[in-house]
Amino acid sequence: MNFELTEEQLAVQQAAKDFAQSELLPGVIDRDNEQRFPAEQVKKMGELGFMGMMTDPKYNGGGMDSISYVLAMEEISKVDASASVCMSVNNSLVCWGLERFGSEEQKVKYLKKLATGEVIGAFCLSEPEAGSDATSQRTTAEDKGDYYLLNGTKNWITNGKSASVYIVIAQTHPEKKHKGINALIVERGMLGFVVGRKEDKMGIRGSDTHSLMFTDVKVPKANRIGEDGFGFTFAMTTLNGGRIGIAAQALGIAAGAYELALKYAKERKAFGKHLTEHQAIQFKLADMATKIDAARLLIWQAAYLKDQKKDFVKAAAMAKLFASQIAQEVTTEAVQIHGGYGYVKEFHVERLMRDAKITQIYEGTTEIQKMVISRELLR
Ligand code: CAA
Repeated sequence: MNFELTEEQLAVQQAAKDFAQSELLPGVIDRDNEQRFPAEQVKKMGELGFMGMMTDPKYNGGGMDSISYVLAMEEISKVDASASVCMSVNNSLVCWGLERFGSEEQKVKYLKKLATGEVIGAFCLSEPEAGSDATSQRTTAEDKGDYYLLNGTKNWITNGKSASVYIVIAQTHPEKKHKGINALIVERGMLGFVVGRKEDKMGIRGSDTHSLMFTDVKVPKANRIGEDGFGFTFAMTTLNGGRIGIAAQALGIAAGAYELALKYAKERKAFGKHLTEHQAIQFKLADMATKIDAARLLIWQAAYLKDQKKDFVKAAAMAKLFASQIAQEVTTEAVQIHGGYGYVKEFHVERLMRDAKITQIYEGTTEIQKMVISRELLR
């Protein structure tokens, strides 16, 4: 692997940085306070090509590699993790899943609009009683010949209200357990589909996380992804890729907090000298920077393996495990360096510290990543 980024990758990184600084930074604190989805900003992200970065240009995507994607995710997450989770779900779970496993008809009908950000996608696996234990799906998709009759509730769905295309995981043949599960494309507006309560969250408060209710929703058979019973494998395989995006989000949150702490430490004086002249602060900065670089290397490794079409399951889980862990540590230290200022809402580090926590929960908790890694090690 070459550690030098190409000119194209550097250009993507710079474009994401410029966008984050000029379009996301102003207003990010207000959006967090008001729990307001960054609708205008996400629309611009689509126009700039950030919503379908890895999708084939034949389906209106950017045709970029996963390294470019994680570079953009890092820059955008440094500033606004609510915008970046929307981007991550759309790119990694919805566009990538559809491109890899969808039919040509589904790609033309849905992927082309998702890849430009004209519409936003959501990935609906979690349920009130099936979070980590994803095989225990209670949502049912009863086979009615030409269509499935969908019934059930999904919880904690990112882009829950802003999406138009939902990939819903549901059980068709309970006797077959996970081999009886299907993944269905559900459109906003289908009769019987209702967007439920919005979650009042600790972090990523600009992201619209909702429950979804399905009552006798008729989903055409043509909207099933893959063969009958492929839904669980679809979800697991797609999540393997998604974890690289969330790892890059965690990295961005950590790196954003580190950069703010470094700037603050250079400006702030205590006991007659700048904070950077105190060894206690120098050691904190050294630890933070080392952890960030280590996380970045794990993430680039996973992205590289994915681009090489090699097995990246363990690498992706390791990257997410480590990046989400150091995001807790680095953001906490960034608040510490800021002292009292770090604890108030005008300073971005308190939000970044709250945002960091979700990266240890969604797309598989810390414990799930350890399960995935150990299974791969012991295979
Ligand atoms: N990749 C591919 N296939 C996998 C897999 C992986 N990482 N992990 C399991 N599978 C396959 C297995 O091979 C098996 O298939 P076969 O029977 O055909 O061999 C099948 O899945 C069932 O596997 P297990 O018997 O191991 O199932 P399990 O119940 O013991 O464990 C699990 C599975 C790994 C814990 C899984 O349930 C899991 O990953 N849970 C976490 C779910 C999750 O990440 N949810 C996040 C919600 S989405 C989200 O957060 C998006 C967002 O909004 C940001």
